[in-house]
Amino acid sequence: MRNQLVSSSKTQAGSIEIANITKGFQRRGGAFHQVLGEISCTVADGEFVTIIGPSGSGKSTLLKIIAGLETPDQGGVYLAGQPVTAPSRRLGVVFQQHVLLPWLTAKQNVLFALEANGTSARTAEERNELAEYWLEQVQLLDAQDLKPGQLSGGMQQRVGIARAFALESDVLLLDEPLGALDALTRHDLQQQLVYLSEHESRTFILVTHSVDEALLLSDRVLVLSAGPAAVIQQELHIPFARPRDRQTLEQSPEYLELRRHLLDALTRGTQEQKMGMQPIADGRK
Ligand SMILES: Nc1ncnc2c1ncn2[C@@H]1O[C@H](COP(=O)(O)OP(=O)(O)OP(=O)(O)O)[C@@H](O)[C@H]1O
Ligand SMILES: [Mg+2]
Repeated sequence: MRNQLVSSSKTQAGSIEIANITKGFQRRGGAFHQVLGEISCTVADGEFVTIIGPSGSGKSTLLKIIAGLETPDQGGVYLAGQPVTAPSRRLGVVFQQHVLLPWLTAKQNVLFALEANGTSARTAEERNELAEYWLEQVQLLDAQDLKPGQLSGGMQQRVGIARAFALESDVLLLDEPLGALDALTRHDLQQQLVYLSEHESRTFILVTHSVDEALLLSDRVLVLSAGPAAVIQQELHIPFARPRDRQTLEQSPEYLELRRHLLDALTRGTQEQKMGMQPIADGRK
């Protein structure tokens, strides 16, 4: 069922190349604010990469550029070798603020996105099955007929996640998708994201402020330096085997070491501006 529904149309690779991107904005009063310095990196098909960095360093700006929602001043983004110049259904996005249509039910919100996204190869019945499949994956099947106003924040977030997964994009771009949640719901949804990402052959790029979330989910973590002109100041490979179990991970000395290293990099990130790739361990790929 899942293979038929979810993977049959995925024929294109989800590799991303970010090549020499810079981005700045004109501020009120005319001053130019250089948000991103030169950023280059590649993300392999099926890899889970997390971007972490100080607030205002340009993480969301970078994600929007990858999504084709912002144009870089210089450089480019390539999806499977093709330049990204506009939003595309191959690049799914989940924002911190889940944007659900309030007059539609949870299921209708997912279906609406499927219809709007031109998944025309699917029949209405298949789209319905797909929506139900993903609502079930985020444990919302029972709430499928409720409208956003009748759902908790965490449930709304899960509808947003189900919707993004249902779109069958090659790449999922997640901008602090769990940021606005209470600790317990976040914990629960992190676990679901681990499960979903490990059972999907898509590429994931996540922005988060949580070091533990980054370590739990990622194959690789990129640490952005503080702006202006933020760069990737460090790259960490996260070597833990999959499937991952949070409790086992958190008890391992290597986890504590990576955690300390990442926190240290984030703290130092406010001072360091130069590019300094320092892989400290081998990834699983
Ligand atoms: N459309 C825009 N116009 C002008 N300035 C912008 C625009 N978008 C972002 N910026 C500026 O770019 C900088 C980086 O913003 P961005 O939202 O990318 O940061 P962030 O790293 O995602 O921060 P946070 O962790 O708080 O979400 C900020 O100074 C912001 O004011
Ligand atoms: Mg942001």
